[in-house]
Amino acid sequence: MPISYNETERVFRLDTPRTTYLCGLAGREGFLGHIYYGPRIPDDNMRYLLRLEERPFSPDENPRERASFYDAFPFEYPTWGGGNFREPCLRVRTAQGGGNCELFYESHRIFPGKPGLEGLPAAYGGPAECTTLEITLRDPALELKVRLLYTVFEDTDAICRSVCIENGGREALDLTAALSASLELDNEDFDLITLHGSWAREQTIDRRPLAYGKQGAYSLRGISSHQFHPFLALCEGTATQSRGLAYGMSFVYSGNFLAQAELDQFNRVRAVLGIHPDGFQWRLEPGASFQVPETVLVCSNAGLGGMSRAFHDLFRNHLIRGQKKHRPTLVNSWEACYFDFDHDRLLHLGEEAARYGIELLVVDDGWFGNRKDETTSLGDWQVNEKKLPGGLKRLGEELAEIGVKLGIWMEPEMISPDSDLYRQHPDYAMAIPGYPPTLARNQLVLDLTRKEVRDSIYRQISDVLRSAPICYLKWDMNRPLTDVYSAALPPERQGEAAHRYVLGLYELQERLVTDFPDLLLENCCSGGGRFDPGMLYYSPQIWTSDNAEAVDRLVIQEGTSLIYPLSAIGAHVAACPSHINGRVTPFAIRGRVSLPGCFGYELDLEQLSQDERDLIPRQLEEYRAYGPLFREGDCYRLASYRENHAYDAFLCAAKDRSLAVVSFVQVRSRAYQRSLRLKLDGLDETVRYRRRDTGEVRSGAGWMQGGLLIEAVQSDYFSVLVILEQTEELY
Ligand code: GLA
Repeated sequence: MPISYNETERVFRLDTPRTTYLCGLAGREGFLGHIYYGPRIPDDNMRYLLRLEERPFSPDENPRERASFYDAFPFEYPTWGGGNFREPCLRVRTAQGGGNCELFYESHRIFPGKPGLEGLPAAYGGPAECTTLEITLRDPALELKVRLLYTVFEDTDAICRSVCIENGGREALDLTAALSASLELDNEDFDLITLHGSWAREQTIDRRPLAYGKQGAYSLRGISSHQFHPFLALCEGTATQSRGLAYGMSFVYSGNFLAQAELDQFNRVRAVLGIHPDGFQWRLEPGASFQVPETVLVCSNAGLGGMSRAFHDLFRNHLIRGQKKHRPTLVNSWEACYFDFDHDRLLHLGEEAARYGIELLVVDDGWFGNRKDETTSLGDWQVNEKKLPGGLKRLGEELAEIGVKLGIWMEPEMISPDSDLYRQHPDYAMAIPGYPPTLARNQLVLDLTRKEVRDSIYRQISDVLRSAPICYLKWDMNRPLTDVYSAALPPERQGEAAHRYVLGLYELQERLVTDFPDLLLENCCSGGGRFDPGMLYYSPQIWTSDNAEAVDRLVIQEGTSLIYPLSAIGAHVAACPSHINGRVTPFAIRGRVSLPGCFGYELDLEQLSQDERDLIPRQLEEYRAYGPLFREGDCYRLASYRENHAYDAFLCAAKDRSLAVVSFVQVRSRAYQRSLRLKLDGLDETVRYRRRDTGEVRSGAGWMQGGLLIEAVQSDYFSVLVILEQTEELY
């Protein structure tokens, strides 16, 4: 059994293929403490790691030191009060104004499968794929019940944790913090890894030694944000891509979050992840419960690469519901035309696409209402017949005749002050009484906490999708939440608005994927401002960054692939010089950088030189040939441009190790160099592989220990794609 309870030891044991997680009960009261998380071990008798024999003993034996006990005990789900001065996961305010909460074991159950989380995205798995442990804790004074859920999967080294909090008392109380998970680890000279960035610079890896006190990442922007990412990792200071212990925590949520590691006086780390407590407050009436979103934990003893691959597998196999959907090659109108298009120009772009066999034309911003620029019409999702006579229907049908499908852009969560929707329903926009609502990109945010607002906007979305042969939707969101206040909520519930907004968003996308099961949904938030596991539950791919310039993209995609599979990464060959940073990069390099993601073009195909045009068939051929390997294989990072400032390389191996592809991209030449020895990873040591372009045959071990020699090329831009295919068995 992957989960068991040892009654003698009072220890819960959770096993994944390569890791073990232990937590257990302490004292007569039944405190739940974290014991061990790491490489798989067979033992249950690890309670000594709770250090209960050391002073201060547990409170029932030594009540005079209760505060010191709270200050040191590795709580599995820490609460505020009693001497817990470190970050709590749970904090309450009672009707009397009290803030204490103490949780003790009440019961548990272990069952096959994994329950869904009401209204929230969450990993899924059937009874044969995963097992769940539910531990119920109780605060006897408040009659508060806290159910901790842990799910382990048969095929993946990941553990999902979530929490349901129920008010069993007779009075209402407020939750003022309700995080998803806490991890208590002895500091093993850890480095902390977070992702930081900004618009057009998303998901940049930041690794630094863990310091005393609190540090981490957060968002208070109502979205997971460009600036930080709902994720943190702790790894041994010496850990590399392929060696060393690494822990990762990833939040299946798309709003405000706190991802924080805290190094304490005993050189112990408490890492927490969940909804950011700032501004959060949730009223729990008697009998009501609150479902906390899910966190995914990963541990690997095979370095950061091992951690990444565990996340990739979990997300591909148990989170992204559209993972297996066909990912068409596309051309997107944004950098090709911006707002300046009409039917003929789009059809012409479609004809160009058809010449190369590009499968999909995406009509980006500008096809609806009176939308001529950023100032108007969000909320008026009726086609602009002046630009597109005959509407999207005619365009879609004419494209279909030449073998190209139609996709469109929408920004359903927004409302322009200059729109019919706003003129009819100004109250649909979020605003704080007494203040004019804050504009960003000239737009306001719809109050998605309100059902009538969601219904009204959903009617428009579904009408558009039914009006024409549309097979793809880019769902955009182009500003943070500022005036977070809902006219429909009473004053004591305004602290719920930000989370209710996210729940409203999830409800809308759930309806969409249920009503339009064949639609390919790609989420976007000014690029990667809401690239998170929550959104991946609805859309199998996300537009990674508005910055598709090849050199910057290497950094963005490296950071993104630290957590997410390449199949989730929207990657396009964009216009040049880059509209974002002005850099001039060869067409071939832009193609190679986009190749491993969900590939497309975002430029005016007609403006390309003949040489560039000649490259398109080859790029599409490479995507068709290796796209499945990139999307479904195991990814091994071999070199990082972010670290070496010259080149980037990674390998993707088929799950059965019969085939591997190595992508090497140089973007800065290195003066007076000899060839570069690139050691491979992820091959089967015991079989031979033939390099397809040169015919060289070597064992997997040989390729990995000896490596590939990459010629020294005296040019900034240079790329190689090496295919290794298995030949006969070695032994
Ligand atoms: C955002 C998106 C872009 C594009 C524009 C359209 O910035 O990230 O890809 O769709 O909006 O306004």
